[in-house]
Amino acid sequence: MSETSTSGLSRLEKTLFRLEAQHACLAYAFDAIAALPGPVVEFGLGLGRTFDHLRRHLPDREIFVFDRVNKAYPDCQPDPAHLLLGEIEETLPPLALGLAGRVVLANADLGSFDRESNRAVAAMCARLLPPLLAPGGLIMSDLPLALEGFETVKLPPGAREGRYYLYRRPVSS
Ligand SMILES: C[S@@+](CC[C@H](N)C(=O)[O-])C[C@H]1O[C@@H](n2cnc3c(N)ncnc32)[C@H](O)[C@@H]1O
Repeated sequence: MSETSTSGLSRLEKTLFRLEAQHACLAYAFDAIAALPGPVVEFGLGLGRTFDHLRRHLPDREIFVFDRVNKAYPDCQPDPAHLLLGEIEETLPPLALGLAGRVVLANADLGSFDRESNRAVAAMCARLLPPLLAPGGLIMSDLPLALEGFETVKLPPGAREGRYYLYRRPVSS
């Protein structure tokens, strides 16, 4: 017998609601970071859909994009200087010092339907992302993250609970 989801949602609904929530969180984030200078980090280029959205709404920001492979649509390609290919654990450290405390928005869209892999990915994000964030900076994630010293931000309208997660580094902490 095939396994069914314990959440009661089909895979179609999980994908649909994740993208819907991601879109709503991005709209919230674009406003929230408008007055904060600093670069943006995207974990998970995938097909490049989120990257395309980021660059259209944040045309003046530096956007660093990470993935183990480049499978993005031809019209969603980051410039090579800002595309880091390989395992994030290996490609981020050389940039980490330069980005430390400066990133105003990090989007981690690395989840899959594999529970074990999600646990490892969430732990990696919780370890690697916090040192990068500027005061007031936001972390968005498709997986819940245990982030010490960050506050959980209430999801904006249009984002269903449990489909995306938003965190802010307090301005004074
Ligand atoms: C859900 S997709 C991202 C979708 C993307 N936001 C889009 O708009 O198409 C997740 C991506 O994360 C990448 N990924 C997952 N874990 C990774 C890791 N540890 N290092 C590098 N890339 C990783 C996968 O290769 C995959 O392309």
